[in-house]
Amino acid sequence: MQSSASSFAPHAQWLSPSDWRAFEASGTSAHRVCSLPGAWIERLGSDLLINHQTPTLLANLFQEWKQRSTDYAFAPQRIFSRDLPLQNADRSAPVLLEGDLSLPVETVVSESRVRFGLDFSAGYSVGLFLDQRTNRSLLKRKPLKRVLNTFAYTCSFSVVAALAGAETLSADLSQKSLDRGRLNFTLNALDPGAHRFVADDVQDLLPRLARRKEQFDAVILDPPTFSRGNKGRRFRAEDDLQSLLSAALEVTAPAGRLLLSTNCTKLRVTDLENIARFSLKNARMQGTFQHSPALVDFPLKTGASTLWIQLR
Ligand SMILES: C[S@@+](CC[C@H](N)C(=O)[O-])C[C@H]1O[C@@H](n2cnc3c(N)ncnc32)[C@H](O)[C@@H]1O
Repeated sequence: MQSSASSFAPHAQWLSPSDWRAFEASGTSAHRVCSLPGAWIERLGSDLLINHQTPTLLANLFQEWKQRSTDYAFAPQRIFSRDLPLQNADRSAPVLLEGDLSLPVETVVSESRVRFGLDFSAGYSVGLFLDQRTNRSLLKRKPLKRVLNTFAYTCSFSVVAALAGAETLSADLSQKSLDRGRLNFTLNALDPGAHRFVADDVQDLLPRLARRKEQFDAVILDPPTFSRGNKGRRFRAEDDLQSLLSAALEVTAPAGRLLLSTNCTKLRVTDLENIARFSLKNARMQGTFQHSPALVDFPLKTGASTLWIQLR
């Protein structure tokens, strides 16, 4: 990352042109371009998305992008903007700022040549969380037989695991997100019929899998900060992450691993370690912790807080 030399957005940290070229060379077309307090820009395939808390930040970033685009040798097909409101209830889908309105709202991006479908009209989130890139890549390192991806959204973790040869179970409350997940399998020449997709509350599913004595070599736990599940049951990361992890440990195979991840700004990696220590002790299990590799396009302390737990 390099600091901004311009007066439009003086606190912005921009991806260096050489890092941009490295993304290109590795078959990655979805990454951050710049970050600053209250705003950031993402490159999503042929398009750009400017995320901003205020109209001034949007105007400044738009101007500075115009000055810098030649450094990256990238002329976006479209530029979208997305407001980052204080309340979740005020969230809305990105809007087109520049470019052809008649182009399809759906597009495809790649990450290390793995393809993911995005939809700019689907709502606040367009389909891929870029800060999970290095965590997704860790699923390729060691061959895995069975992977459980909870809060799966568009199943990006499942696709990477399936490409590495795993059987996957993706669970999410939203059938619509799982349908998009199936499309992501198809986009990568994987047969979704050979994998499981369960539209249910993860808090109900985990005990059911445990009763059936199902075991997984890797479990992904990346819940939202707050949600309402079956029968309006509340999930709040601060209060419920520990019981969620305890339930997940029951379906993790010996020597298996879990990813514990949260966007809840009140929970840092040290809090995740404390939660993990407590759950392991309760379950009379032992494990070691591994931190996620840094992301070249995310400044320190931005993005999700994440922790890998390797069971012994
Ligand atoms: C932060 S996203 C997860 C992102 C995903 N891990 C990824 O990297 O693409 C949260 C997802 O959790 C789902 N969700 C929220 N509460 C749930 C619950 N109680 N049970 C199952 N899924 C839930 C939402 O529908 C949404 O798709």
